[in-house]
Amino acid sequence: PIIYVITPTYARLEQKAELTRLLYTLQHVINLHWIVVEDSETKTQLVTRFLQKSKLSYTHLNVPTPEEYKLAATDPNWLKPRGVLQRNAGLKWLRDNFNPSTGKGVVYFADDDNTYDLLLFEEMRFTRKVSVWPVGLVGYLRYERPVVKDGKVMGWHTYWRPERTFAIDMAGFAINASLLFKRSEAKFSIHVKRGGLESEFLTSLGVTLDDLEPKADGCTKILVWHTRTEKSSLKNEEKMIRKYGQGSDPMIEV
Ligand code: UGA
Ligand code: MN
Repeated sequence: PIIYVITPTYARLEQKAELTRLLYTLQHVINLHWIVVEDSETKTQLVTRFLQKSKLSYTHLNVPTPEEYKLAATDPNWLKPRGVLQRNAGLKWLRDNFNPSTGKGVVYFADDDNTYDLLLFEEMRFTRKVSVWPVGLVGYLRYERPVVKDGKVMGWHTYWRPERTFAIDMAGFAINASLLFKRSEAKFSIHVKRGGLESEFLTSLGVTLDDLEPKADGCTKILVWHTRTEKSSLKNEEKMIRKYGQGSDPMIEV
């Protein structure tokens, strides 16, 4: 099976660094197609050129998040879900371009800032319906994970609302691409309440707990980390202009 990795991404100071790290991971994975979806009105030069040089099989899409759904700088990050319309654009592309009767595929939603062990991709490659595994450094815990008994998922090791049907981070599951065709309306909702994004998506796919395939040694190994990059400050740029007459060259892409 081909692994289709859907990555939402948006312009910010750290974007190229994040994408570079993710690209170098994905370059080590065979039979992989990277669907990069920019949260923007148009495709940016930075991402366009980056992908052209990437030596990876990829699709470049874009769709902007409407202003009213964007987080303000002062909002707590859990107030509104991120990357929703972008992941949906990736799903639409798959429904338009992947043929489940002639191909085998697995879909994984890989945020641009997380850290991925290469073993994860081989764990997910043979997914019948939905594979699940632990995610490190998430939920203000060392890890969150599906609770597995006799090879079945019984519940969730999470602090926050473990009673959710699927109390799992985006990084913690992959789906067989054929599911998208059995449930042709299934997608992410921008209106979900806090922590409901993943759970409601899996529910819309018609998935039940019984369908979940625990990977990573019965969900005991951490193969993906929900890392978050510190915001870089530019506070010396202006000071530099004042003190030395010029700051960093805006023509140099960072
Ligand atoms: C957590 C989950 O790990 C995400 O998968 C989930 O989308 C998010 O919460 C949520 O609640 O929506 P977190 O680290 O807080 O993740 O989110 P980000 O990494 O800031 O964003 C997730 C993805 O969306 C990233 O790939 C990011 O580049 C993208 N994004 C973020 C956009 O496309 N547009 C934005 O305005 C912000
Ligand atoms: Mn993140």
